[in-house]
Amino acid sequence: MKTRRFGKEGIEISEVGLGCWQIGGNWGEVDEATARSVLTAAVESGVTFFDTANVYGDGRSESLIGKFLKEETPDELFIATKVGRGPMYPGDYTEAGVRADIEASLSRLGVETLDLVQTHCVPSEIMRSGEIYEWLQAMVDEGKIRRIGASVETVAEAEMLIENLESLYSLQVIFNVFRQKLIATVLEKAKEREIGIIARVPLASGLLSGKFSADTAFGEEDHRNFNKDGDAFNVGETFAGVPFDKGLEFVKKIESIVPEGTGLAEMALRWILDFDAVSTVIPGASRPEQAIRNASASDQERLSDDVHQQLKALYDTEIESAVRGAY
Ligand SMILES: NC(=O)c1ccc[n+]([C@@H]2O[C@H](COP(=O)([O-])OP(=O)(O)OC[C@H]3O[C@@H](n4cnc5c(N)ncnc54)[C@H](OP(=O)(O)O)[C@@H]3O)[C@@H](O)[C@H]2O)c1
Repeated sequence: MKTRRFGKEGIEISEVGLGCWQIGGNWGEVDEATARSVLTAAVESGVTFFDTANVYGDGRSESLIGKFLKEETPDELFIATKVGRGPMYPGDYTEAGVRADIEASLSRLGVETLDLVQTHCVPSEIMRSGEIYEWLQAMVDEGKIRRIGASVETVAEAEMLIENLESLYSLQVIFNVFRQKLIATVLEKAKEREIGIIARVPLASGLLSGKFSADTAFGEEDHRNFNKDGDAFNVGETFAGVPFDKGLEFVKKIESIVPEGTGLAEMALRWILDFDAVSTVIPGASRPEQAIRNASASDQERLSDDVHQQLKALYDTEIESAVRGAY
């Protein structure tokens, strides 16, 4: 596993991280033993960066990570969490509420200081007003938080924070073969300011693994069922905003571009890693085999210019117009 420089402090993290939404909830049942084996498999594959949030499974994801940290004491694991979803969303933010959520994350994770707290897709106006970042900064000053980041939905939000939020350490963005708009905008600006980029939803919720077909059915508790058209939250977080049937068509075309000797999932992750502004890509995994396979993208060679050009052309001509939701 290769590491990359993450943000202006120059700390090194694994270029493939682990998304820990799956071990919280919203993806169908992932029992505790499986969740634990996902964390173990990731760490054994060289992963040193976990992304979680207080609301994943109502604290379950953080609690399981906390237990893992206590029992396995892995060296140098960087845990990024989030605040800003839950009862305060979208407009009832208070300093006391944010503080209480941070204290609860500290307790579940069993640490004295949180490595990174990202605002969790809070509304643009909340980010713009900046008050929430002042409250978080106060907790940085008290030693409860080390760094402040933001997970955002749109290019405009990313640019606004890069330009205006001095304390911003990292940005988490949806970045994958279906979502290329950031390349010309956010990536370069973030690089100039040494803001770490965390690439989420890299497999378009699993579509870019190639394992789904028109017959695939998702359970009632799975957001790929209840949010496939954005009925519960931003549609972009599910299949990256692409309608499922269209996504299957795009995947067929992308499969014909996959270089010999690699698989679609590895290529999709490699494509993201080929952009040096990216600090880490955080595929989610509901099974240990997935975490191991995803980590292997770090060992793959850079994709050829030809493959990059073909994926760009497909995005420009067909995919971009199919993406729904705030972007
Ligand atoms: N607003 C936010 O800040 C926000 C929103 C979304 C995500 N995130 C973060 O980003 C992380 C990653 O995004 P995501 O989990 O939504 O989407 P993703 O990484 O694109 O997709 C994850 C899903 O893809 C499938 N998968 C993963 N590796 C695979 C492999 N090697 N082969 C076959 N299938 C594979 C699994 O589906 P099955 O479970 O069906 O096997 C897995 O649950 C999340 O875990 C979370 O930490 C943050």
